[in-house]
Amino acid sequence: MEEKRARESHTIMNELVLPNDTNTFGNLMGGRLMYWMDIAAGMAAGKHCNAPSMTASVDNLSFKNPIKLGNIVHIEAKVSRAFNTSMEIFVKVWGEDLLHQYRYESNEAYFTFVALDPNGKPRPVPHLIPETPEEIRVYDGALRRRQLRLILAGKMKPDDANELKALFFAAEES
Ligand SMILES: CC(C)(COP(=O)(O)OP(=O)(O)OC[C@H]1O[C@@H](n2cnc3c(N)ncnc32)[C@H](O)[C@@H]1OP(=O)(O)O)[C@@H](O)C(=O)NCCC(=O)NCCS
Repeated sequence: MEEKRARESHTIMNELVLPNDTNTFGNLMGGRLMYWMDIAAGMAAGKHCNAPSMTASVDNLSFKNPIKLGNIVHIEAKVSRAFNTSMEIFVKVWGEDLLHQYRYESNEAYFTFVALDPNGKPRPVPHLIPETPEEIRVYDGALRRRQLRLILAGKMKPDDANELKALFFAAEES
């Protein structure tokens, strides 16, 4: 199977928060941001597998800081690990205040996309090669996150989640 470097899927997407994107507090609505994050993740997945792909799941998404009306939404997405037919994509979001010239973290999340063949069935994806320390860090944690999300989706037995169990046993021993 073909291999691809993590950086080949790097995707940057910018949006401007307009009045129609905001809630009654004048901040970007969470749902709108999730929509944009899903698009950025989908583009990164597409760059990695060069095939149509579908969102299978999104891991816990919590909002650190709201993004204000008139600010720029800066979204970066990159495939963090590829499995058989699925890919985990790490998405990070910042707000950017152009008037006062500063950028602030908004949130981050892991998306899982599944590549599909012309019949809409899952198809194999290239392996991923992480290179930078950050790419290696998220790559190394991906097996545990995959096991947790598959257990929560009822698609894996907790007993089979070896990497996840090792994390808890290591925590107990220390
Ligand atoms: C995602 C989907 C294609 C998976 O199909 P499926 O018949 O469950 O296929 P499988 O059980 O063979 O799983 C295929 C891959 O999806 C992964 N997967 C399935 N459910 C998952 C979940 N809830 N979270 C993470 N990964 C999941 C499996 O781990 C597997 O990955 P692998 O091949 O790398 O090991 C199917 O569930 C689906 O079409 N869901 C709806 C997607 C959708 O409508 N998205 C929103 C609009 S884009």
